[in-house]
Amino acid sequence: MNPFKYGTIVSGKDFCGRKTLLKQIIGYIESSQHIVVLGERRVGKSSAVYEAVLKCKIGRLFYVDLLGIKSIDSLCRRILRAIVVLEQKTGWFDKIVKTLSYLKPTISVDPITSMPTISFDASVEMKANSIPEVLTLIESLGKKRPLVVVFDEFQDILNLQEDAHEALALLRSKIQFQSDIPYIFVGSIRHKMDEIFTHHDSPFFKSAIPLTVDPLPYEEFSRFLKKKFATGQRKIDDEALEKVFKIANNIPGDIQQLCEVLWEVTSEKEMISLDKLKNALELIFAREQKSYENYVSLLTNIQLRCLMAIAKEGGKSVFSVSFMKSAGFNNPSSVQRAITRLTKLNILFESGGEYRFINPFFRAWLSYKG
Ligand SMILES: Nc1ncnc2c1ncn2[C@@H]1O[C@H](COP(=O)(O)OP(=O)(O)OP(=O)(O)O)[C@@H](O)[C@H]1O
Ligand SMILES: [Mg+2]
Repeated sequence: MNPFKYGTIVSGKDFCGRKTLLKQIIGYIESSQHIVVLGERRVGKSSAVYEAVLKCKIGRLFYVDLLGIKSIDSLCRRILRAIVVLEQKTGWFDKIVKTLSYLKPTISVDPITSMPTISFDASVEMKANSIPEVLTLIESLGKKRPLVVVFDEFQDILNLQEDAHEALALLRSKIQFQSDIPYIFVGSIRHKMDEIFTHHDSPFFKSAIPLTVDPLPYEEFSRFLKKKFATGQRKIDDEALEKVFKIANNIPGDIQQLCEVLWEVTSEKEMISLDKLKNALELIFAREQKSYENYVSLLTNIQLRCLMAIAKEGGKSVFSVSFMKSAGFNNPSSVQRAITRLTKLNILFESGGEYRFINPFFRAWLSYKG
């Protein structure tokens, strides 16, 4: 069985390293300190938080994923769903039913699992005044048995646009009185998380201690990956593995994705060296081609030219004369416009003054296609 996992939270034997970070997170949980966990996409934020909560054995994990929420209603429903997942016992349903009677909660028993489930009236739209109510529910859950509350993809709260400030203010005003419950906010779109936690006029200004999740060091992660290859009697040499890290820009999720296909295109007792990378990448391209083509179809010629140039030359000095020349631009403002659009489409992101591909394999595909 292919031992490489990507795109999911990894824990236990699938979780590599991060001793110091786990210790830090556990320490903050023990002192009920709120933290904000930041890092690039697929670097391992959710896994680190999950592993720390499991390891510390102090509180039950109360996990709410805010990915893609669009309204206060969806924010509240996500929290309620997390409560239902945590508390399968009917006694708790009574409490939810009482607190949220206007949502006409109905309890039924799932015919397959025999577990009780709860559903709410979809035609009722929860408004700002529901936020304190659902947070009070969290508080009473925590009184029963200690909780660690994790809000993942927290930056998506800014999707609520004109409601975002009010939602944040209401969350903050409840959370600050729940001093026994550690809250962990996880997020990856740097400037959005900064907007929430470091802007003076944000209700969450300096409300949590920031922790950054960095890529795993080569030494440690490569040892872990080599062991995984060995479970299928495969050996990978350092040259190939270093190249994997390079293509994936050191991002653990992308490294594991590339290892997953390297495994697929090789067989037992095989020595994996650089020459296998081409087949592996082609397998990724075959799987992801449709989405690449879809992205390309959204771009104008100018935007595509700019993207190709970044794929080939990197995105460090996109306003330099040589970059503009190779991309066929003659003024920086048209580069800026193209980059703004490419960033909006979530193809590129900016990190420390450099524009990078969110998906490193899309970059590889573009330069492969020429
Ligand atoms: N400690 C780790 N050990 C091994 N692999 C890891 C580790 N952390 C992350 N990964 C790899 O990265 C992938 C993504 O991990 P995770 O979902 O925790 O990252 P994330 O930063 O929360 O990502 P996203 O930005 O998508 O929310 C995992 O499926 C796994 O392949
Ligand atoms: Mg995550």
